[in-house]
Amino acid sequence: MKKNKEFEFKPFSRKQKQLLFWWTEDSPHKDKDTVIADGSIRSGKTIAMIASFLMWSQYTFSGEDFILAGKTIGALKRNVIKPMLQILNTWQWEYKYNRSENYIIIGSNTYYMFGANNEASQDVLQGLTAAGALADEVTLFPENFVEQMIGRCSVEGSKIFMNCNPGSPFHYVKTEFIDKATEKQVYHLHFTLDDNLTLSERIKERYRKMFTGLFYKRYILGLWVLAEGVIYDMFDTDKHVIQEIPECDEYIVSIDYGTGNPTVFLLIGIKDGKYYVMDEYYYSGRDKGRQKTDSEYADDFKEFVKGRRISAIYADPSAASFITELRKRGHYVIPADNAVLDGIRYVANLISQNRLFVHEKCRNTITEFTVYSWDPKAAQRGEDKPLKEHDHTMDALRYGICSHSSRRVVRLTTVRW
Ligand SMILES: Nc1ncnc2c1ncn2[C@@H]1O[C@H](COP(=O)(O)OP(=O)(O)OP(=O)(O)O)[C@@H](O)[C@H]1O
Ligand SMILES: [Mg+2]
Repeated sequence: MKKNKEFEFKPFSRKQKQLLFWWTEDSPHKDKDTVIADGSIRSGKTIAMIASFLMWSQYTFSGEDFILAGKTIGALKRNVIKPMLQILNTWQWEYKYNRSENYIIIGSNTYYMFGANNEASQDVLQGLTAAGALADEVTLFPENFVEQMIGRCSVEGSKIFMNCNPGSPFHYVKTEFIDKATEKQVYHLHFTLDDNLTLSERIKERYRKMFTGLFYKRYILGLWVLAEGVIYDMFDTDKHVIQEIPECDEYIVSIDYGTGNPTVFLLIGIKDGKYYVMDEYYYSGRDKGRQKTDSEYADDFKEFVKGRRISAIYADPSAASFITELRKRGHYVIPADNAVLDGIRYVANLISQNRLFVHEKCRNTITEFTVYSWDPKAAQRGEDKPLKEHDHTMDALRYGICSHSSRRVVRLTTVRW
């Protein structure tokens, strides 16, 4: 049996206790089928939900199967399984964790792990008859997975536990479960930072400062608000457009490549956790009346980076032919991380914290910062998506900054071109 660390419980808040004990005999909500805990980041939803789910499933059933679901198996293991095993150690409940087959046996019950965005995982789910499910970060799940998951919970007395940060007010979790809480027998609990007693005032203040606008409303206030209008509305030309760039510790280049659309290269300097967009290359074949070939773009790229010390080059992951062309010429190009929403949130945080600046000569980048907008049609469908226009420097910027900061690549030695 694999022994993990123990979980060090601190006093639970009233909200956490409501989540911990909603299914117990004394609770006015015990006959409900579903609990949803939504709200701010770090507000103590997941930890209280795991403890609640473990107690409920162990005290109520034996010999049954349960579902544990995350956006991906990786996210589930990080956010749920890790603290869950620590809790089991603290409580001294025996368990058998099968890492390769992704299930855990606790007492006589079996808990199967699923990644909601994995097609194969849906097939396995289809064959299961479960007595309950715990869905962590459920706003990130496709709707059909949630339907399927609920459909599998057909054992008498089964219950569904879901938690999430808010998204669009048109998101199905909001419209189908929270708005219909009474008719669908859903117990809805709304969490804020104050519902996690382990956070000090200083830490809460730090979280509050990390977000502005839409992200502040969703992740700090925990509200379901529409992604509408300009995405980087915290970008202030007076503050973030500068005339002089300091000497930086390292320089990276980021590429957004288009065949019909413009191609962009950005030179970004990094110093003391701050990012400086120092120079841009922007070529629109449509505007200029002539498309360029990969080879011509590679010539322009060579000119763009000439004489500069570049520690990494990140490119649009879909730009396979151009990446090949650059590699043929000896440039070490890394296909970028393209998680759009995480990337937008990260860039927005940098701007809010005054950690991202643009040199005044980068006209296209500055323009796009002020017009890059959410797609209103997608918003009506409950999806957060940027409009696919005026997004080229914005995509390039995100590729560079997010891929570089996640540091999944081994640091490259500095090359003099
Ligand atoms: N009662 C408690 N005892 C010990 N630690 C706690 C307690 N409540 C919350 N925490 C800790 O606070 C942190 C945030 O809690 P948790 O992960 O449950 O928040 P969350 O609401 O799920 O956040 P997110 O929306 O970011 O996923 C975690 O490190 C968690 O272990
Ligand atoms: Mg959580």
